[in-house]
Amino acid sequence: MGTRLRWRSLSGNEHRGQRENWQAETSSKAPFRFCACIGTMNGAPSPGLRPPSPPFWAGERAGRGGRLWEALEPAALFPRSQPLEVELGSGDGSFAAHYARLHPERNLLAVERLLGRLRKIDRKGLRAGLVNLRLVRIEASYLLEFLLPRESVQALHVYFPDPWPKRKHRKNRLINTRFTELAQRALAPAGVVYLRTDDEDYFAQMTSVFAANSGFLLAETPADLSAIPTDFENDFLAKGVRTLRAAYQRR
Ligand SMILES: C[S@@+](CC[C@H](N)C(=O)[O-])C[C@H]1O[C@@H](n2cnc3c(N)ncnc32)[C@H](O)[C@@H]1O
Repeated sequence: MGTRLRWRSLSGNEHRGQRENWQAETSSKAPFRFCACIGTMNGAPSPGLRPPSPPFWAGERAGRGGRLWEALEPAALFPRSQPLEVELGSGDGSFAAHYARLHPERNLLAVERLLGRLRKIDRKGLRAGLVNLRLVRIEASYLLEFLLPRESVQALHVYFPDPWPKRKHRKNRLINTRFTELAQRALAPAGVVYLRTDDEDYFAQMTSVFAANSGFLLAETPADLSAIPTDFENDFLAKGVRTLRAAYQRR
């Protein structure tokens, strides 16, 4: 039996949209769920990402009483031990569900910080009976910085991350020089980062920070991967907006 999540804020109410610290509770009513939760609900990354100290995180990790300031153990999250891939900012999860269904031989960890979106992914995963899809509610940078074990990931998928188009907000972008260093650490040798965006300025930033990191080589996005659209991508395509993609392979 797996775990079913119930969410509540530290103040005890289930709600969203306010700056709050969150915790997750687990019970054993439904299959396939893994979630954890850290950070704030209001959009921008938590300032000064640092490992929390108790009792900030009081949730239990499915199947064992792991704490969120310990590195994840990918093998403990999934029923089958197989290559791990991570999608950062999964949104409503159409990509995650589609990809996990097409690749039962891979494990996919979908990372998203908005509860409503996680619930949608969760429903998709449950409907499709996916045992190779797990969800985590967390700040993507925190996961990369503190929780993903070194060389544990075969592929990182980052599709249409928030573009933060105003100059003064660009510091909030997920993909920056530090991201390339963290990706390099999390990826196994020959592991790949796949990127998509509709924002030309952000695309230029993505390609320039990866080109500047000698630990990566420019790579191709396989056609079968390109063929799986995300929810945002579907909207852009419907409006005739051009989207851009790139891939970088760890040396
Ligand atoms: C523009 S949407 C794209 C969603 C999805 N990838 C798609 O293409 O349909 C960006 C998503 O990333 C999530 N997100 C943004 N910053 C994040 C962060 N630092 N950590 C985790 N999720 C984040 C947002 O909540 C949102 O769902």
